[in-house]
Amino acid sequence: AWSAERARAIIDDYRDTSGALLPALHALLVEFGHIAPEAIPLLAEALTLSRADVQGVITFYHDFRTTPPGRHLVKLCRAEACQSMGSASLEDHARHHLAIGWGETTEDGEFTLEPVFCLGNCALSPAVMVDGELYGRVSPERFDAILASAGQ
Ligand code: FES
Repeated sequence: AWSAERARAIIDDYRDTSGALLPALHALLVEFGHIAPEAIPLLAEALTLSRADVQGVITFYHDFRTTPPGRHLVKLCRAEACQSMGSASLEDHARHHLAIGWGETTEDGEFTLEPVFCLGNCALSPAVMVDGELYGRVSPERFDAILASAGQ
């Protein structure tokens, strides 16, 4: 269960460390299984960020599923290199094609769509990972083909 005291102790380990927000969020997730809204002001204060910044990162990276994942996990890279190679239109395509949003699962239970921050495949962006397998230079057409073969 959530404990403000415990959360404070965890966050304190990251105090004044630059780039500590993601590791701190991860540590809170490991401890509590979710990020309680009460953690946002604690994180903001300890890491000298605005609450909006903290909230923005949580929203951007959230993969706090409320339902079990589908048979195939589709991760789309939303980090910089992929953005510069048009990942935004691939994201639109993926959500449209699957008719789901981030963190959601298709009605037939086949696919779950998740955003990720850099798959280490920047030279071949935009990058996608399906069931742990990495794909580079993924066009919308290729995306459909990858999913079609994963679904077989
Ligand atoms: Fe997408 Fe690195 S930015 S793989």
